[in-house]
Amino acid sequence: MSRSMLLIFFLSILVANVVNGSNFPIINNQIHLLRPQSGSGGSYASGLSCLSWRFGVETNSIINWKTIPVSCEDYVGHYMLGSQYRKDSKAITDEAFLHAKSLNLSKTGANDVWVFDIDETTLSNLPYYAQHGFGLERFNATSFNAWVDTGKALALPESLKLYKKLLRMKVKIVFLTGRTEDQRTVTETNLRSVGYHSWAKLLLKGKNFIGKPAVVYKSTERKKLEEEGYRIIGNMGDQWSDLLGTNTGIRTFKLPDPMYYIS
Ligand SMILES: *[C@@H]1O[C@H](CO)[C@@H](O)[C@H](O)[C@H]1NC(C)=O
Ligand SMILES: *[C@@H]1O[C@H](CO)[C@@H](O)[C@H](O)[C@H]1NC(C)=O
Repeated sequence: MSRSMLLIFFLSILVANVVNGSNFPIINNQIHLLRPQSGSGGSYASGLSCLSWRFGVETNSIINWKTIPVSCEDYVGHYMLGSQYRKDSKAITDEAFLHAKSLNLSKTGANDVWVFDIDETTLSNLPYYAQHGFGLERFNATSFNAWVDTGKALALPESLKLYKKLLRMKVKIVFLTGRTEDQRTVTETNLRSVGYHSWAKLLLKGKNFIGKPAVVYKSTERKKLEEEGYRIIGNMGDQWSDLLGTNTGIRTFKLPDPMYYIS
């Protein structure tokens, strides 16, 4: 596609989203029209298109990055605020639902659980990231935790729909998050306030895992679940570290997140 076609493509996504009256998310943030990607300062690798960069990120081929490429700020902003993010999420949650249905769960025991990550999986921190360059700024734990403590994260609409369908199928919900124990109360309140009303377990990161890789923490917690007799029928997250490691469940589902990387 030529650059002008790309511009029209993204503008049409943006306009379509506005026309749809989509109420997710309502963010008063000034984003700028797309600039040409080549030639602007600070680009990751010269000539790398942002679409290709996102492909590399979502396939876990581009790893251990600390910030998005400077030249992709507008691209990532448009993606996150436009309808493509929502559509990509829906493709994954629809597939997850088909998987759950295919297991004929009524014939199996009552120990089937679905593991959901929280941030950018069930709750969205887009209002925060919109104020911080959509991942252009390095992660700042102080300011991010202050945002978490407001309890104002949004629900990811497609994830919330899947959650409700799973509950109707009598699947137990386990939230497994990198948020820490001291954020338990605000996390519970936030989950409930946006529609996640019940769960079997909310697993937050304890002191013994601080500083350890997410993949180690999450594998350990999933192993414990299985040792307790649960069967993990599905495991959904926005980070590969939610989905790799051990005891990953029958199937894993990767939601989009081009804003940050957690190892
Ligand atoms: C679920 O039921 C359908 C229809 O009876 C069957 O074809 C399918 O093999 C079953 N799947 C499992 C995982 O048991
Ligand atoms: C992180 O955010 C806090 C609170 O907004 C701020 O005081 C601090 O300077 C920031 N740290 C860095 C390294 O930017």
